[in-house]
Amino acid sequence: MQKATAVDVTNSRIFHRQTRSVLPIVAHGDGPYVVDTNGRRYLDASGGAAVSCLGHNHPSVIEAIKQQLDRIPYAHTAFVTSEPAEQLADVLVSVAPEGMERVYFVSGGSEAVETALKLARQYFVEIGQPQRRHFIARRQSYHGNTLGALAVGGNQWRRQQFEPLLIETHHISACYSYRDQQKTESDEQYGLRVADELQQKIEELGPDSVIAFVAEPVVGATAGVLPAAPGYFKRVREICDRYGVLLILDEVMCGMGRTGTLFACEQEGVNPDLVTVAKGLAAGYQPIGALLASGRIYDAIRDGSGFFQHGHTFMGHPTVCAAALATQNVIREENLLDNVKQQGAALMHALQHQFGQHPHVGDIRGRGLFIGMELVADRETKAPFDPTLAVHAAIKREAMTAGLMCYPMGGTIDGRRGNHILIAPPFIIDETHVEEIVTKLNTAISAAIT
Ligand SMILES: Cc1ncc(COP(=O)(O)O)c(C=O)c1O
Repeated sequence: MQKATAVDVTNSRIFHRQTRSVLPIVAHGDGPYVVDTNGRRYLDASGGAAVSCLGHNHPSVIEAIKQQLDRIPYAHTAFVTSEPAEQLADVLVSVAPEGMERVYFVSGGSEAVETALKLARQYFVEIGQPQRRHFIARRQSYHGNTLGALAVGGNQWRRQQFEPLLIETHHISACYSYRDQQKTESDEQYGLRVADELQQKIEELGPDSVIAFVAEPVVGATAGVLPAAPGYFKRVREICDRYGVLLILDEVMCGMGRTGTLFACEQEGVNPDLVTVAKGLAAGYQPIGALLASGRIYDAIRDGSGFFQHGHTFMGHPTVCAAALATQNVIREENLLDNVKQQGAALMHALQHQFGQHPHVGDIRGRGLFIGMELVADRETKAPFDPTLAVHAAIKREAMTAGLMCYPMGGTIDGRRGNHILIAPPFIIDETHVEEIVTKLNTAISAAIT
């Protein structure tokens, strides 16, 4: 019998993401390439969704997983701890922003955000401020799809139909200079203006009623890679401190080296109280997320009830932690952050060269190997495409045809209008891959926007 080379999902028993699509079947990985059962090779320029930072077959990570499986695949953390989990926590704390002292392992990004929200709330209960109940976050941010994470997320389209189920949260503006900075404002003035919205919101809600401000240091999936304006996060940190509000940074997408530093907030010069990571932590070799907590928060639980009322069956999974530990070792031993900076600069330069004056590319932005290109119908007016055209979907389709995986998305501006392409290739790419990304992207954009 001939092997199937693609699956029409209407005939599949899997509840796929889309109920009407045809998907190639993945066969194996080859460095930064994904190969399907037809033998077609796709350069993975988005690491899936900013996950596969070591490409798809790094021998050290695979070996670490195998070795752990030979010892013991899984053991429940209510009964035992494990060497890979303990070592991974040590490594993460040793490289984390100042003040981070403990690591809570989970299985992905949304779980890490849920954990952060609950831990932040319990912290205030423990220290005798149970009246604090509000979370403030930003419009156009994405923090995950579980109900708590979705509630703090600011993407209207993703929230809309679940709105009646979401906990009350409050949103301030994104730091989105391409769209919102006024001509008369410097970058710094713009950053401070939008950061000050946090203070206004805290005052409006009641200064002692806010638990935390939640933000992605570089907004990823829903806003197309938005780094903050200079001074923005420093001002945010000051405001949080003034009102005793916790700063939760969501580095699920932008963290773990993606922007050229292990934690994206290093480049902002601020330290959070809680920070979430996931995606690149184990490079996709196993599913993992983590919440790093400051000593102050941990101590409050330790000296109070002694128990964080949370937990998941697969937290601290030994095989998963072994994969993450090996991933972090590879990043350090192979100096991959240097490559992120070097190839990130080369990629940015090549994209600017190719698309800097393109009539439908309004903005190219990002840090390290985390780059977004915002698409526009008109470069001069910045008018977006008609959302019904679903330009992002056409680009994704054409990119796949050209042998390129990238991550285009719609709703960049307000959840409905706007389109962008997110590029987040593995940290192991070289100049030839940079060239291939730009060439294939050009083919895809030309075919999709006629
Ligand atoms: C910033 C951010 N937070 C949280 C999440 C949710 O992570 P997961 O899809 O692993 O649940 C994502 C996923 O894209 C993300 O980008």
